[in-house]
Amino acid sequence: MEKPVVLLAEELSPATIDALGPDFEIRQTDGADRSQLLPAIADVDAILVRSATKVDAEAIAAAKKLKVIARAGVGLDNVDIKAATQAGVMVVNAPTSNIISAAELTIGHILGLARNIAAANAALKAGEWKRSRYTGTELYEKKVGIIGLGRIGALIAARLQAFETQILAYDPYVTSARAAQLNVKLVSLDELLEQSDFITIHMPKTPETMGMIGAEAFDKMKDTAYVVNVARGGLIDEDALHTALKEGKIAGAAIDVFVKEPSTDLPFFAFDNVVVTPHLGASTEEAQEKAGISVAKSVRLALAGELVPDA
Ligand code: MLT
Repeated sequence: MEKPVVLLAEELSPATIDALGPDFEIRQTDGADRSQLLPAIADVDAILVRSATKVDAEAIAAAKKLKVIARAGVGLDNVDIKAATQAGVMVVNAPTSNIISAAELTIGHILGLARNIAAANAALKAGEWKRSRYTGTELYEKKVGIIGLGRIGALIAARLQAFETQILAYDPYVTSARAAQLNVKLVSLDELLEQSDFITIHMPKTPETMGMIGAEAFDKMKDTAYVVNVARGGLIDEDALHTALKEGKIAGAAIDVFVKEPSTDLPFFAFDNVVVTPHLGASTEEAQEKAGISVAKSVRLALAGELVPDA
């Protein structure tokens, strides 16, 4: 009997293949390259992706045997869920696999900005010993504003307690009891923007959240504020960020995600007080292993016609 075919459209942890086991034919392709993806998806039963593969209506229409789209990560914004549902294709993800990694990268970026680590590193390697130029700021007693107090936001809040920061959060879906449990003060978005010394955003990408930090939001921030985005490109409007940096409306930014990925030469990369990383939030051995194993198990269950439990 022919084995069901599982297409790995991006580089996934080797644990993914181990967890799939011997019952499948495994194929690989570069899902970011449409000319490879569309023919490759045509006759597979399941596809496994990270964030670079767009499983949109066109790809789903090309996939005549497809039963499962598995996203080895949290965000489902690269999958057309409506088109999948209409085609009877199940969509699964791994919603907790990389939340610790994303939270830790956020803390890393906050500390990196506070202490100018990236800029000082670049200067020293270029032969410049400039101690006073890179005088930083402590986190101690500073206000950190978290936009979106979901799973990742809550982990960040817990980790920030160790630095004895004051944590503000904006999240219309979080109760004050939950905020109190996390030792976080719930505030309006405007209050958060006006009062925070560090602002970090952890929202999903939806039509409502795209561009939510734009020119108006930057105008409300302190000119000593630092901004971090490891969530999704475009939550912070890239042109507004560029203008805010140019006009000294903020002290700096750390950006891990971009409207267009890959992006290697955006105008705001030129600022010394901007740190950029290439969408590394989920890129740890642990997160990739957890994501791969989680979606491999879901694919096994789904292709066996069994119930896939909520992760
Ligand atoms: C996510 O949404 O989980 C991350 O963007 C995952 C990834 O980088 O693959």
